[in-house]
Amino acid sequence: MSGPTVKAGASPALSPAGPVRTAGGAVLLDGKAVAAKVRAAVASRAAAFAARHGRRPGLAVVQVGEDPASSVYVRNKRSSSQEAGIESFAHDLPVSTGEGRILALINALNHDERVDGILVQLPLPAGVDTNRVMDAVDPAKDVDGFHPVNTGLLAQKRPRLRPCTPFGVIRLAQEYGLALPGLRATVVGASNIVGRPMALELLLARATVTVCHTGTRDLRAEVERAELLVAAVGKAGFIPGDWIRPGAAVFDVGINRSASGKLVGDVEFERAAERAGWITPVPGGLGPMTIAMLLSNAVDAAYLRTGTPV
Ligand code: GUN
Repeated sequence: MSGPTVKAGASPALSPAGPVRTAGGAVLLDGKAVAAKVRAAVASRAAAFAARHGRRPGLAVVQVGEDPASSVYVRNKRSSSQEAGIESFAHDLPVSTGEGRILALINALNHDERVDGILVQLPLPAGVDTNRVMDAVDPAKDVDGFHPVNTGLLAQKRPRLRPCTPFGVIRLAQEYGLALPGLRATVVGASNIVGRPMALELLLARATVTVCHTGTRDLRAEVERAELLVAAVGKAGFIPGDWIRPGAAVFDVGINRSASGKLVGDVEFERAAERAGWITPVPGGLGPMTIAMLLSNAVDAAYLRTGTPV
């Protein structure tokens, strides 16, 4: 059995009773509880910003079209930001909106002094060049951390605004005291949103990182070696539970509907929880952490833009 060790002096228990364990014995990485803690810290920093600047930090969330999954995420992002004391600017554009009109909106938001953060919900409708749109966002307001400038800064070990889901994985691992340096970490999935920045975050944390993708020859062998696994594939139960290394820490980014309509991750949970040392639930793992880190980025962006201490 080999997996992460817990740092001396860490306080992994979020309740006095200690961490919650699955029936299989793994520690449940409670993203909902840690996200609530992050959101409380964001709310107090947002209030301090408002007291100093006479306005709340502002976050613009842009949605183009009405993709049902995106609509749920966007509603959640807007309501969570308001609850944390961040002013929410909603921009809902019809699915037929052309690229020029989207770029004009982003240009206006880039120059709007009330707006500290801009998020364009992905995916964009077919025919819109996603890279052109993401590149148009002012890197100082790029709360998704998707702009090449922010990706480049993360790659160069000087992170500024960090992609929310990978940042959420690191924050959750820290909260439970998981020692990442030297750990054999495997990321399954190589998207620009999760897999690639996740690899950069783990590298920054001094793990030894492997990234698996559709070109990987023997996925099972790679997963079986992983002391820390991040699954970011977007396919229900894609990773069989009996591939999990005993004692490993498993971070499941997937949020999928099973055939029976249940929300499930990319990892087959029950069997994985019998083998893992730590595991995130779905729902209640990285979903809430992603939103919490977005709010944290929005307040960071407000402080960074105004030249006041973060
Ligand atoms: N679509 C799925 N995940 C994300 C995300 O983290 N940010 C944005 N903007 N769109 C997404």
